[in-house]
Amino acid sequence: MDRLLTGLQPSGALTIGNYCGGISQIVNYQDKYETFLFVPDMHAITVPQDPEALHRNIINAIAMYIACGVNPDLPNMHIYIQSENLYHANLSWIFECHTPHGDLTRMHQFKAKSAKNEAFTEGLVTYPDLMAADILLYDAKYVPTGIDQKQHVELARNLADRFNNRYGELFVVSEPLIPVIGAKIRDLQNPEQKMSKSTDNPKASVFLSDDEKVIRKKIMSAVTDSDGKIVFDEENKPGVSNLLTIYSAFSGCTIEDSVAKFEGGGYGDLKKAVAEVLVEKLTAFQDKYNKILASGTIDEILDAGRDYSIKIAAEKYEQVRRAVGFGRI
Ligand code: TYM
Repeated sequence: MDRLLTGLQPSGALTIGNYCGGISQIVNYQDKYETFLFVPDMHAITVPQDPEALHRNIINAIAMYIACGVNPDLPNMHIYIQSENLYHANLSWIFECHTPHGDLTRMHQFKAKSAKNEAFTEGLVTYPDLMAADILLYDAKYVPTGIDQKQHVELARNLADRFNNRYGELFVVSEPLIPVIGAKIRDLQNPEQKMSKSTDNPKASVFLSDDEKVIRKKIMSAVTDSDGKIVFDEENKPGVSNLLTIYSAFSGCTIEDSVAKFEGGGYGDLKKAVAEVLVEKLTAFQDKYNKILASGTIDEILDAGRDYSIKIAAEKYEQVRRAVGFGRI
């Protein structure tokens, strides 16, 4: 079985964007690939976090993955926490020593996040090296993500190539898997931007944990435009296109089918239908989520995932350590 790997930061509650770019793809591929699904808590502290909230968000994220359809009982499914496997940080350091600074500071995400906070830390700069370590430790062939992480996966590919050329075949060169629908769910209030976990505007993002009333309120107040036509045109009509994308992603229709369904109608009808499909899906996830949290099974899943991930990562790290000349032969 080829390997697939991805992670979702526990820097806040998960959004419907995280579902589309990350979780739904894992669910679609979990029978086909050996899957490494982890919580990148080390990435989360590249911006300040409240420690208590971080602990809680980690466990909540695991419960939500499973509630959304990730099957922890599959023998090929490994769910773990990044910081519980020390090889991630070790390999990241080696990558930091092989990545030109300029390659890191030209990353879109670094530019956006550092612009928001002048006192950004060095961890924000080296973030993509840690992400490359996450991926390359496991010989992951496929990395499902939204479009925002594509550049980081490309940096991991470049590192893999560079190491393979310099030290001999060490790493699998991974490919990003970007969903056809929902690669970039947009902010409901500012559809020029992507929807994000950490937003100051309470109406900008729909969280997987939002209740029915909140979902309806957020969708009904989503920013659209004034021309009144339901057309899919992401450049000129990002708000309406976003609603069509959300509808398609959560109902399983193509974009064309969604346009055909709502064409000629008003934005209000489209919004009501989007809210309806979200309420139906998210409330089902939430029922399962509460049961999983109450079941007390998460620790067992994480213990098994940690042990397996350490076993695989240790083998890869040993090869890299020897290749770069660390320690004794
Ligand atoms: P993160 O936590 O920001 O997002 C988790 C996943 O959700 C996707 N995503 C979106 N997809 C569509 N529309 C959106 N608005 C949207 N917002 C987020 C992201 O692309 C991602 O797939 N650096 C990563 C976490 C990470 C990782 C890794 C991912 C750490 N190591 C190794 C893959 C492989 C991140 O911050 O994702």
